[in-house]
Amino acid sequence: MHLRNPLAALVLAGMASSAAVAQDAATLNLRSLAATCAACHGTDGRPVSGSPLAPLAGMPRDAFLAQFKAFKDGSRPATVMHQLAKGYSDPQVEALATYFSTLKR
Ligand code: HEC
Repeated sequence: MHLRNPLAALVLAGMASSAAVAQDAATLNLRSLAATCAACHGTDGRPVSGSPLAPLAGMPRDAFLAQFKAFKDGSRPATVMHQLAKGYSDPQVEALATYFSTLKR
């Protein structure tokens, strides 16, 4: 695209880059949230070999939501997840469910 007005070009470039920055911030935010699970479930939801934990990567969204909710309301007995689950808001849990379901196992 050829723009005669350098100011218009600058404004357009600025719009494009602020959209990219917003996208990066959202991705970073989501990955940071998912990283809070990594200590036990492994980086990107892939447990280290020999871990007894189920991989979160590739877990179907509905199954993830059902299990997480069951931890949160105490209907699924757990050693740690029932406490941990209480620290996450519903929108955060939804975002995590979507994120992990899109990762390869
Ligand atoms: C301190 C270790 C620890 C952390 C941190 C942790 N988990 Fe867990 N997770 C477990 C354990 C242990 C289990 C098995 C249930 C139990 O005994 O609590 C489990 C089970 C699960 C399950 C059930 C899997 C299945 O197939 O039944 C899901 C889903 C889950 N965790 C999601 C998460 C998410 C999402 C996070 C981060 C927000 C997270 N966990 C953080 C230890 C952890």
